[in-house]
Amino acid sequence: MKISELLLEGKRGLSDGKEDSSDSLGLEERVQNAVCSLDAEVLLAHVLDCSRENLIRDSQEEVSEDDRQVYLKYVEQVVQGKPVAYLTHQKEFYGMDFYVDERVLIPRPETEMIVDHVLDWLVDKSRKDDADLSREIRMLDVGTGSLNITAAIIRHFGHVYSHAVDISEEALEVARINSESHGLETHAEIYQSDLLSNVDETDFDIIVTNLPYIGEKVNRNVSADVEKHEPSSALWGGDDGLELYKKMIQEILDKNIDFNLFVGEFGSGQVDAMSAMLSKFFEQGYRWEIKADLAGIPRMFIVEKV
Ligand SMILES: C[S@@+](CC[C@H](N)C(=O)[O-])C[C@H]1O[C@@H](n2cnc3c(N)ncnc32)[C@H](O)[C@@H]1O
Repeated sequence: MKISELLLEGKRGLSDGKEDSSDSLGLEERVQNAVCSLDAEVLLAHVLDCSRENLIRDSQEEVSEDDRQVYLKYVEQVVQGKPVAYLTHQKEFYGMDFYVDERVLIPRPETEMIVDHVLDWLVDKSRKDDADLSREIRMLDVGTGSLNITAAIIRHFGHVYSHAVDISEEALEVARINSESHGLETHAEIYQSDLLSNVDETDFDIIVTNLPYIGEKVNRNVSADVEKHEPSSALWGGDDGLELYKKMIQEILDKNIDFNLFVGEFGSGQVDAMSAMLSKFFEQGYRWEIKADLAGIPRMFIVEKV
């Protein structure tokens, strides 16, 4: 079978046989079809160990029956709900490739907001105070997972040194793989910590975090596939989803941790509770704000020392 034929078979399998050329499809179905096309290509490129561009270039070449069987098995697993990234062990975040597997949450595009904000803040700070350009910027990344936030920030700002912590030893194994592949061994210290329990430093320029925030009783905004496949330690944040944030902020204050910028992600339906928490904990000496993601959902809190 030719590459082009197998791609079509894979795409049909993923999209349940719907054709994207049909004018009768609505916008949502068309988007879904585009996603299926992309997934079909990403999976086949992975099986054939080539780029997606090569699939197009070599579309008339034959695929071996063994490769075809492996590919169709992958397609079947995706149809059953398994994320493509857990099959290819690769996910792009902020233009960088990260190794991922079931030990970590798959980085999400909305989390790039955190990186954007930190980089803007660093550039702004550097413009105002040249001395900051040459000294080390101390960062704490709580719940680092695949190390994606830390790695993306350091890639653009080499003076950052990050304490990247996670409660999960398994997630830290993945963080170390990505640290090595991105050459960050001298830029990031990766260690186990339940929130801030093992963090001895008390002075950071920046704290970033994307703690689990899915509520077990309210704000239970999670799909069955995510719940089934992604690590539960990366999902659940107590009854309303914000319990880990509450605990972490309390620890920042109890341990007298000094910071200039503190940025974190939360979920839909949590903006009022998050705002109340920030008002309560950061009443004096700080200013805070909430920013919405591209879909207009309040998604990121920013606390800055004044
Ligand atoms: C939503 S994932 C975020 C992963 C990654 N930072 C990202 O943005 O894609 C949350 C991470 O927090 C970690 N985590 C959960 N509870 C924690 C705790 N009490 N202390 C430290 N890390 C925790 C999980 O293991 C997981 O890797």
